[in-house]
Amino acid sequence: MFLLKIFHYIKGVSEWTKRQNNAFSFVPTMGALHAGHLLLVEKAKALGRPVLVSIFVNPAQFNNAEDLQKYPRTLEQDLRLLHDAGVDAVFLPVTEDLYPTELPEVSLDLGSLENVFEGQHRLGHFAGVIKVLHRLFSALGPRDVFFGQKDLQQCLVVEKLIARFFPDIHQHNIPTRRDPQTGLALSSRNVRLSKQGVVTAGAINWSLQLALQGKTVDEGLTEARSYLENKGITIEYLDVVSLPDMLHTEEIVDKKTASVFAGYVEGVRLIDNHVFIDIPEITVF
Ligand code: PAF
Repeated sequence: MFLLKIFHYIKGVSEWTKRQNNAFSFVPTMGALHAGHLLLVEKAKALGRPVLVSIFVNPAQFNNAEDLQKYPRTLEQDLRLLHDAGVDAVFLPVTEDLYPTELPEVSLDLGSLENVFEGQHRLGHFAGVIKVLHRLFSALGPRDVFFGQKDLQQCLVVEKLIARFFPDIHQHNIPTRRDPQTGLALSSRNVRLSKQGVVTAGAINWSLQLALQGKTVDEGLTEARSYLENKGITIEYLDVVSLPDMLHTEEIVDKKTASVFAGYVEGVRLIDNHVFIDIPEITVF
């Protein structure tokens, strides 16, 4: 019978990583796993090396106590999914072990990413993401790491973290998996939406495409904004930006421009983005 190894402490998991000679793939998560996470696992497994998944609802990256408290936790189901997906080991850190009091602060210059979008609206969020990933990467030493492009700004922040501290780690950003019926980007937060909420939130995907299809960027954004407002979606931000700096742009360039959104449906905060690709990629569900 296939056995999923479960570790709670850095000591145990790092003995496992050393036994792999660090030739393993790592998928960090906050649990409440869905098909989007399983796609990351699938891509990690495709490299043919052992796969380690971590599940840790990282308090350091929540700027809102209620959001942290309401974050879905489905550990038993997560472990079953990871077992069935053929994951080799799971790390479920204990906060005091992961974050000992003497842990030094990580200083990383995020440039323009620091104060826009998620950086602006979730103060301290990226400092928390950097804290946990720096700790995990240092302790585990993975060769390949996997992230979902739904969190586009996070992918860009992780690129900076890796470039600065972990040049041997290879980062894989995996395209967003979407609900086939509505186009809604899969997210752990979607479980908090009603059936109607899921349908409504599907408009986010289409608005992001509209934003990239106007005669001008301004026109595209105006159309996208009124489309979302007509659906009753509250917009926190909606913009067209250049990559990788995520600054507003008026010019759409293949693979170097993205439309980005954050907002609320039924009180649930959702984010999404589309990277402009001249010949759209066909997603097969
Ligand atoms: O994207 C997430 O789920 C989290 O931000 C991450 C990368 C696991 C860090 O806690």
